[in-house]
Amino acid sequence: MKKKVLGIIMSVTVVASLLTGCGEASTSTSTSAPATDSAAADSGAATDEAAPAPSGGGKKVAVAMPTQSSERWMHDGANMKEQLEKLGYTVDLQYAEDDVQAQVSQIENMIASGANCLVIAAIDSGALVNVEQQAKDAGIPIIAYDRLLMDTDAVSYYATFDNKGVGTKIGEYIVQHNDLNPSDPKTIELFMGSPDDNNAHMLYAGLMEQIQPYLDDGSLVCKSGQIAFDDNNTLRWDQQTAMKRCEDILTRYYADEDLDICACAYDGLSYGCMSALEGAGYTDANWPMITGQDAELMATKHIISGKQTMSIYKDTRLLASKCVTMVQAVLEGAEPEINDTDQYDNGKIVVPSYLCDPVPVDKDNYKEVIVDGGYYTEEQLAE
Ligand code: BGC
Repeated sequence: MKKKVLGIIMSVTVVASLLTGCGEASTSTSTSAPATDSAAADSGAATDEAAPAPSGGGKKVAVAMPTQSSERWMHDGANMKEQLEKLGYTVDLQYAEDDVQAQVSQIENMIASGANCLVIAAIDSGALVNVEQQAKDAGIPIIAYDRLLMDTDAVSYYATFDNKGVGTKIGEYIVQHNDLNPSDPKTIELFMGSPDDNNAHMLYAGLMEQIQPYLDDGSLVCKSGQIAFDDNNTLRWDQQTAMKRCEDILTRYYADEDLDICACAYDGLSYGCMSALEGAGYTDANWPMITGQDAELMATKHIISGKQTMSIYKDTRLLASKCVTMVQAVLEGAEPEINDTDQYDNGKIVVPSYLCDPVPVDKDNYKEVIVDGGYYTEEQLAE
């Protein structure tokens, strides 16, 4: 009984903090966004020395982003705009709020309004084939941003993070920070990403490679049995969907035993699971390990308070700087930096890619990685 009452109080707190977090993300990039160019210079992400002199000559680069509801895409958009404008390009930045058809229309308008280059972070990576063909026919080059564009030969380059590496690092963290032993099994549930996003599949592959041996020997037990990606993915990486699925799993499979590990593929899914766990009466005494991805401001605060165990930090300033070199390559014949020419087969071509390095962060290293790296200040994290 006591457990339930506590759960309800904590639930209200989480909802309140989620609402505050959303407000920060959608209404103001200045409070929640990491510092952009000067901090990037400190971190070596996009230094003035490295950046060539303004050369854009007013050419128009259109940037199609998926949603403003997730903090990382706000950072990505802001960084792309700032870095491109610094080079003299005009930027048309648009968000489609996870509405696939809206993104198609935005891209059609970008083509019609004379964009010289398209940078696309897709909502549904396979749903843009027609509009990508239109761009190709109009001679407009396309760069895939963070998410691979599938089933098209109209894409020139791909800037991303090592997506399988994200899963590997989450898996390694779980393995290294739990005393995994078949004589004292730990329970685990998986909350994976969107099935229409190639990144989600790669992350899952990296994660499973790490944890499969422990599922096989019984050190890890998934009581719901929802181990296959088809059973544990989350369309559009949606927080509410993850919350409901977690509630259902806790009710059906964890009435008599606690869930020890919540393997979430993104911070938004972690918030959903936290609400479900609090609603089910979990407290500090039996709180599970919770993973995430993006090291959002709120997630980093949760890491400090102990509510979330770890996340994967992705420096969006660095990603933007790599993408900008690709824009310059297609518009000015420059040489972009490429470090992968075989992993990203989109079904039509293998897209030449640059993979940035994802970094796991937890209580022990967030200061060094995130604060010293100039991504968030101590003040932002204390607010
Ligand atoms: C990105 C992740 C992000 C997720 C949800 C993925 O494509 O790579 O960084 O957490 O989308 O927005």
